[in-house]
Amino acid sequence: MSLDTTSYKGVRDFYPEDQFIQSHITNTWRRVVERFGYAEYHASVLESAELYRAKSGEEIVNEQTYTFTDRGEREVTLRPEMTPTVARMVAAKGRELSFPLRWYSIPNLFRYERPQRGRLREHWQLNVDLFGLEGIEAEIEMITIAHHIMQEFGISEDKFEIRINDRILVKEQMEIAGLSEDEQHTYQKLLDKKDKIDDFADQVRTITDKPISTDFAPSSRITSIITNLNQRSITNVVFSPTLMRGFDYYTGIVFEVFDKHPDNNRSLFGGGRYDKLLDIFDHDPVPAIGFGMGDVTIRDVLETYELLPTYRSTTDLYICLLDKKYTSAADELARELRQSNINVAIDYTGRKIGDQIKKADRDRIPFVICIGEDEIASDIYTIKELSTGKEEKLKGKEISSYIK
Ligand code: HAM
Repeated sequence: MSLDTTSYKGVRDFYPEDQFIQSHITNTWRRVVERFGYAEYHASVLESAELYRAKSGEEIVNEQTYTFTDRGEREVTLRPEMTPTVARMVAAKGRELSFPLRWYSIPNLFRYERPQRGRLREHWQLNVDLFGLEGIEAEIEMITIAHHIMQEFGISEDKFEIRINDRILVKEQMEIAGLSEDEQHTYQKLLDKKDKIDDFADQVRTITDKPISTDFAPSSRITSIITNLNQRSITNVVFSPTLMRGFDYYTGIVFEVFDKHPDNNRSLFGGGRYDKLLDIFDHDPVPAIGFGMGDVTIRDVLETYELLPTYRSTTDLYICLLDKKYTSAADELARELRQSNINVAIDYTGRKIGDQIKKADRDRIPFVICIGEDEIASDIYTIKELSTGKEEKLKGKEISSYIK
């Protein structure tokens, strides 16, 4: 029997070169959110299926989750998003926690989608959430963090746009038009897809013949948020009366970051306020706001703007052996260097020295040392930097500070 080597459709294998980029993305996220005082939490990828039925929105629960029955007849879901999980964790501890909470996590999430550019069945998503603040300071902080992350990646302000809306304003328009609760729900889903469909107006007419305005003025909350952000030199925030976002749990401000590049003109990430999600756990309401930023879309953007880092091995030095009999001398040198925090690998293959050096080069290891009779006798080694070809003769003790 021969097994197929392709991975399950839409999930991710990260070879070292991919993982290098992935770490660049997650390290950047981590650095920025920790700068704003956010603490990391973590949870299991498995959740009880009912967690998503309560509030996530029909589409994601019925069509997009991986749900199965376990051996004890319980329905289990691979988490499609982190917000219900973090809400559950906050509700579970309740008053033991000291609010406001600033929490972040970088989970992998699973959604049964048709894989396409920017959308896969598994993605990693930075989740930044702030619990316990009702005022616009929370919105301002969230958007500032989102903006800061883009800058940290090297994406300047003119390249993206932050769109903002308030679901309360949309609700007002739906009520003016006299829509029932069900019609409101359908209309909101439609509005969320407005830019992706050509016959929006026709589809709205299947819900109601009453006119619903999508051209209303911003609320004072939105105006204050934008003014405040402008004062912090964040000037690419625009009011967007048709912005909805998919999930049912958002209760107020929603925002989304868009790439303005013509080749990649799409939503990059977003979030919003969800002040009532903890109600599903019978918990007192806790004001909450947050956003989720996926690795797939951000990687595409970094590629578009040529901002991907070039791969470099985490190994600093490769020790090559002129003969296998020098193995224990190489081991001893490596041991000393590792004690000084140098990352060292040794070539034990016994193949030609040229091939050993080639291996180091292919793996993008910056330095090599070759060990033979002379090196062992003199404790003087020639260290070569592969990118420049530059060579230096050093005593064993001097190697670590030279590499550093
Ligand atoms: P979301 O809009 O579903 O929101 O996802 C947030 C981001 O995750 C998207 O904008 C995109 O970058 C990425 N993403 C989502 N689905 C996929 C996919 N199939 N493939 C690749 N990337 C994807 C949420 O998930 C909310 N729970 C975010 C949030 C946190 N709201 C408040 N706090």
